[in-house]
Amino acid sequence: MAKEQGWRARSAFKLMQVDEEFNLLEGVTKAVDLCAAPGSWSQVLSKKLVENQQEGEQAKIVAVDLQAMAPLPGVIQLQGDITKQSTADQIISHFSGERADIVVCDGAPDVTGLHDMDEYIQAQLLLAALNITTHVLRPGGSFVAKIFRGKDITLLYTQLKVFFPKVTCSKPRSSRNSSIEAFIVCQDYTPPKDYVPNMGTPILDLAPMNADGTSNRTIVPFIACGDLSGFDSDMTYPLETSTGSEEYKFIAPVQMPITAPYLSAMEKKRKGFFHEQMSKK
Ligand SMILES: C[S@@+](CC[C@H](N)C(=O)[O-])C[C@H]1O[C@@H](n2cnc3c(N)ncnc32)[C@H](O)[C@@H]1O
Repeated sequence: MAKEQGWRARSAFKLMQVDEEFNLLEGVTKAVDLCAAPGSWSQVLSKKLVENQQEGEQAKIVAVDLQAMAPLPGVIQLQGDITKQSTADQIISHFSGERADIVVCDGAPDVTGLHDMDEYIQAQLLLAALNITTHVLRPGGSFVAKIFRGKDITLLYTQLKVFFPKVTCSKPRSSRNSSIEAFIVCQDYTPPKDYVPNMGTPILDLAPMNADGTSNRTIVPFIACGDLSGFDSDMTYPLETSTGSEEYKFIAPVQMPITAPYLSAMEKKRKGFFHEQMSKK
């Protein structure tokens, strides 16, 4: 469906289904897309923001990723690591004197399969995204980010609640049930009084703690969204044509990866790198 509709990745449906539920993109003209490659969320933002744009007004989207991303019209693209100060500075510099209406982050580490480690790295990405957000988001704006719903998730909820009175955990239909992935939807950005954004501040320390040092945990609402009678992302379906009579025609990816990691792996394999590593063992 993603290819038929021209989206660079299936993830586009996740943002669209979250937006259907929360109406986050209404009236938005300035957005930041963190961890954006290959760019389907930027495509969704671009479509919506251009629709929202008033005469004489220019929609603005800044997209960032570690990986190179093929250009998208109207999207300012940066290549860098969102946990690095220099990348944050570049994003912030694009918003000098302006504020974004929304910041989204679909960032995911290369999962190791060690769940505690994966959840920890995911949480660090989310905190880096939140820190950048506190520099660029306008009061009242929204922040949407991928989270892994692991056992320590309530600590993250508590930290988000420091900045956003309304925090909801949402699971779009297009996100597999078998995955611990969910999306945190934070609305009405309200930084604490006298809060000064600073990339050096470990936001983790801002979590309210009880006198005995235990964390003051928060429970947030959980919402399933998307068309629940539509495709189930855990299922496999036969390829069908609209009439069922003609033959299915293969649709090429909307955008081929530019420097996909598998290309360097293939090059290493060709040069015998893996063979050498194995023989050393
Ligand atoms: C699931 S993909 C994003 C898909 C994207 N939302 C789309 O719709 O096309 C996750 C992305 O996070 C990026 N990423 C992971 N860690 C990052 C980091 N520290 N800084 C910037 N990007 C990062 C990866 O390079 C990857 O492209």
